[in-house]
Amino acid sequence: MRKVRPTLDDTARMMSETNETVTITIDGRDVEAPAGAYILDVAGELDIDIPSLCAHPGLEPFGACRLCVVEIQKPGWDDWYRQLVTSCLYPVADGLKVWTNSEEVRRNREVVLDLQLARVPKSDVIGDLAREYGVERTSYAERDTDDTCIMCAICVRACDAVGRSAIATLSRGPDKYVDVPDKDACIGCLVCAHLCPTDAIAFVADDNGKRTIWDKQFDLVTDERTGEVLGTPEYLEHVRQRATDRGLRWPDEMKHESAKVKRRTYSSKLARVGRIEEPAE
Ligand code: SF4
Ligand code: FES
Repeated sequence: MRKVRPTLDDTARMMSETNETVTITIDGRDVEAPAGAYILDVAGELDIDIPSLCAHPGLEPFGACRLCVVEIQKPGWDDWYRQLVTSCLYPVADGLKVWTNSEEVRRNREVVLDLQLARVPKSDVIGDLAREYGVERTSYAERDTDDTCIMCAICVRACDAVGRSAIATLSRGPDKYVDVPDKDACIGCLVCAHLCPTDAIAFVADDNGKRTIWDKQFDLVTDERTGEVLGTPEYLEHVRQRATDRGLRWPDEMKHESAKVKRRTYSSKLARVGRIEEPAE
């Protein structure tokens, strides 16, 4: 039986502080997984591909895109009975059986992609995925738009995680959209644009010493010695403020250290995204 190690985020998400593991069956394979880890993460560790556009390992799951649906069966249920659940939000438990690519699962994803294709007909990401599920053209009325936003809210959650909460979802129903209602809150860090799964957030990066995103133009600070772009003054001030709020030293003579701080910020982001390696035996 293959053992699945908890990832960084599984660990954080675990319902209990214990090292409890459970045994589940996923696509016919018996595996051991951390109690409380989400099906999507366990499947990822096993290299089982489940489409998931609104999930990101560094962010809390949200369950917006509905593409990660899988079928489950709990111990004690009738043999014929299975339920569809969103795998990014469903924690594993002992005896759970999971089917990630059954006929029912594929049919469900097909419907979701059909609808998404009508919402964002110009999105290559949705178009490619839809074709994988046999949807060449949407059967619904296509929106006449170049917008490729699928309302996954990754940008909203990422901005919250950065500590700015500048991005919000506005309006309701099919008219819902994301925007930055208070432009002062945006620090031009570009995290939202880089994490958007459908490249829906337009920006002009570091052109002639300026950066533009969400219709706001930012100056850029560069390292005096290397010429490397360190970020926008607003971003650097935000990092400085957060560091000092946490009692970290940030004296003036450390201005060249900004470059290191930025690198550290990115490497910790990558570390959060990365998986824990199996320790050497
Ligand atoms: S702009 Fe991108 S990240 Fe934000 S909700 Fe739309 S698709 Fe998701
Ligand atoms: S990844 Fe689960 S609903 Fe989007």
